[in-house]
Amino acid sequence: MSVRHFLTLLDLNSDELRALIERAIELKTQFKAGLAEQKFQGYTLVMIFDKSSTRTRLSFEVAMTHFGGRAIFLSPGSTQLGRGEALEDTARVMSRMVEVVVIRTSSHSMVEKFAEHSQVPVVNGLTDRFHPCQLLADIQTYTELRGDIRGRKVAWVGDGNNVCNSWINAALRFDFSLCVATPRGYHPEQETLRNAGNRIAVFEDPMDAVRNADIVVTDTWASMGQEEEKEKRVKAFENYRVDQKLMRHANSDAVFMHCLPAYRGFEVTTEVIDGPQSVVWDQAENRLHAQKALLEYLLRA
Ligand code: CP
Ligand code: NVA
Repeated sequence: MSVRHFLTLLDLNSDELRALIERAIELKTQFKAGLAEQKFQGYTLVMIFDKSSTRTRLSFEVAMTHFGGRAIFLSPGSTQLGRGEALEDTARVMSRMVEVVVIRTSSHSMVEKFAEHSQVPVVNGLTDRFHPCQLLADIQTYTELRGDIRGRKVAWVGDGNNVCNSWINAALRFDFSLCVATPRGYHPEQETLRNAGNRIAVFEDPMDAVRNADIVVTDTWASMGQEEEKEKRVKAFENYRVDQKLMRHANSDAVFMHCLPAYRGFEVTTEVIDGPQSVVWDQAENRLHAQKALLEYLLRA
């Protein structure tokens, strides 16, 4: 049987993704009841991260701990990768020692290349193009709180970045409509948009995107690696802040989502992120449960 990787949401079909979300909800219930199963005793997950992380690192480490296995964290600079050892060789060596690899780096093609030479599942822990693990937690969160996301309307406000691209893939796989509001020059990538067809509409005015939305979602205006553009971006995104006024255009039972870390006063006001419509802490918690379901799936356990 060929090894399965999770580099984007499109690596799984709709049925597989839906089953994974159901399993994540089940695992969460089991865990809260004290019934965590130690099914990965003797298993090792390695994380190669050359960008910062709180949630992704912690959730994978805790997931492996709950499963009775262990996680090892490596920063490329402290490995021979940092001294020029070939990626292919690193992938081959790691495949001989561990059961699963999670990578967080800028270059998506680097993760694809690693996966090509890996005999064990590779998970994208965020690249400049995609953040698929985040979307598993986000869809789980909506499903738990409001039911099936199929046919719902999601509004993305802000930067057309890696998380936005993954929301576009999610619209395709989970069959909901996504209205994206970004300033000119900050649109999500064309290839991903094209793939999702008519489920996606792109606007310039945030109000047009948010009207009658069931979910309003945003992210930082300057992603990791864009620190030097921050000043320029703050100016470009000034009218794309999610505040109470904007939220009033969404449905009355709409939820506010953010993958975190959040920057209050920039992409979202304190009133919204700390207000009654915000579900950001559920999203953060669900990283753990959704990734447990993902590990089970990839390890076929
Ligand atoms: N949302 C998310 O991936 O958070 P971290 O960068 O803290 O992992
Ligand atoms: N778009 C953000 C997401 C962080 C989880 C970034 O890439 O920095």
